[in-house]
Amino acid sequence: NAMLAWQRTGFHFQPPKNWMNDPDGPLFYKGWYHLFYQYNPDSAVWGNITWGHAVSRDLIHWLDLPLAMVPDKWYDINGVWTGSATQLPDGQIIMLYTGSTAESVQVQNLAFPKDPNDPLLLKWVKSDSNPVLLPPPGIGLKDFRDPTTAWFVRNDSTWHLAIGSRNEEDTGFALVYKTKDFANYTLLSNVLHAVPGTGMWECVDFYPVATESTNGLDTSFEPGPGVKHVLKASLDDDKHDYYAIGTYDAAENTWTPDDPEIDVGIGLRYDYGKYYASKTFYDTEKNRRILWGWIGETDSEETDLLKGWASLQTVPRTVVYDMKTGTHLLQWPVKEVESLRLSSITFSGVSLAPGSVIPLDVGKATQLDILAEFEIDKSALENTIEADVTYNCSTSGGAAGRGFLGPFGLLVLADKDLSEQTATYFYIAKNSNGELNTFFCQDELRSSLANDVLKRVYGSVVPVLDGETLSVRILVDHSIIESFAQEGRTCVTSRIYPTKAIYGAARVFLFNNATGAGVTAKSIKIWEMNSAYIRPYSDQFQI
Ligand code: FRU
Repeated sequence: NAMLAWQRTGFHFQPPKNWMNDPDGPLFYKGWYHLFYQYNPDSAVWGNITWGHAVSRDLIHWLDLPLAMVPDKWYDINGVWTGSATQLPDGQIIMLYTGSTAESVQVQNLAFPKDPNDPLLLKWVKSDSNPVLLPPPGIGLKDFRDPTTAWFVRNDSTWHLAIGSRNEEDTGFALVYKTKDFANYTLLSNVLHAVPGTGMWECVDFYPVATESTNGLDTSFEPGPGVKHVLKASLDDDKHDYYAIGTYDAAENTWTPDDPEIDVGIGLRYDYGKYYASKTFYDTEKNRRILWGWIGETDSEETDLLKGWASLQTVPRTVVYDMKTGTHLLQWPVKEVESLRLSSITFSGVSLAPGSVIPLDVGKATQLDILAEFEIDKSALENTIEADVTYNCSTSGGAAGRGFLGPFGLLVLADKDLSEQTATYFYIAKNSNGELNTFFCQDELRSSLANDVLKRVYGSVVPVLDGETLSVRILVDHSIIESFAQEGRTCVTSRIYPTKAIYGAARVFLFNNATGAGVTAKSIKIWEMNSAYIRPYSDQFQI
């Protein structure tokens, strides 16, 4: 089926076939980036979870290796679940992961590379001490999973690590253990942080960010001036990844959000679209922190079985503290993605009258990297008309819902008649004091004529500072669209399944559906993107 075949992506990581979910244990080792991932070797639906494994020199082209770990012990026979890597100062790698036992109890296990001299880390050995952690008293046997990378705490000369959980009142939290040897652990008496009503915290991530530079920091970087700590939880209840920026006190084992109103699980999300179970690692090679995220499917399981595969990883994103707002992180595709850029076309000063749709002739339009900047007419902004004070991307009619100052932006993976299109756009709302709120949204409602797919409008407010134009970067790759507004302050990812806007029929348009404002697309640069290699490993492979 040509339509289903077209959905496989060109430059996103996906295994050659079958089901994938969370990224696991990412790290850089002896010249190679390693990505492990939750993988079902037998089918395109979740189950029989093993650790798939792929390596790359540049985070773009991948060699898909044999399975790193399979469920073959009583303590992980129901699944080798999510885990993280810790690299000790002497180079040794510690892998901690959750096992689902024969009784489906969640326990933590330890594994090591069999041969530390092998840069590909092909073989893994599970520790004789396993399981190294059982659910502690008071914690549900199925509410104890996904250990973080450990960080070294100087006050007590131990490694600390966090594990997500919840209590019976539905408060989500991160437990912290300390250890000297990764075989014996002590549970700290207080939790790192807890937020009522957020439910089970999956895939907790905890890391420092520099507040005065864009350098990444090692996970063990000491708290202090110029450093804040990010706490992230993947909420099992609503399947979104929430982060908050705050201050870590290692001696007290507490983390406090800068702004309790935007705490973990109630505030900012890494991505407002289809995005879950993310994990960062510190790239020792290039001094940056890199974020991976799992993008699931929004079509039916039946279709996934027909396709023979399900899920993608995002393009790896660098994550830094946004020094301009002080409230947000900035996520941006790693620089290496730009090595896939082929020819480009630039448009500038395109004026978009209210109600206009303008095709952009870019040739092949299924693998694209788009950079666009918009300016809305000053006179319309200065007009005191109150507009859409209660605007919300998800409930306000999508790209077709016309307001005074929006929506305007781009339509991608659209066919020439616009019977299929996905809109990425800005929408400006204004209150009676003249204060502006800019929304960044992505509308999937007309993305596909297929009726077995979930279509939503995603998005949120994006801070826009004085003097900034509205800017967006959009990566289009067959069935995925990753969009980054204002240098990555607000991100939205969509899985979409066009039936007509495929192969040579896919097009790009600019649109302005505002009723009260002209918009200028100041500059639009669109690159066609090359495909990345994902090659299966063979024993003949020579480094
Ligand atoms: C998150 C998750 C983790 C678990 C893994 C199992 O998607 O549910 O909590 O370890 O997936 O595959």
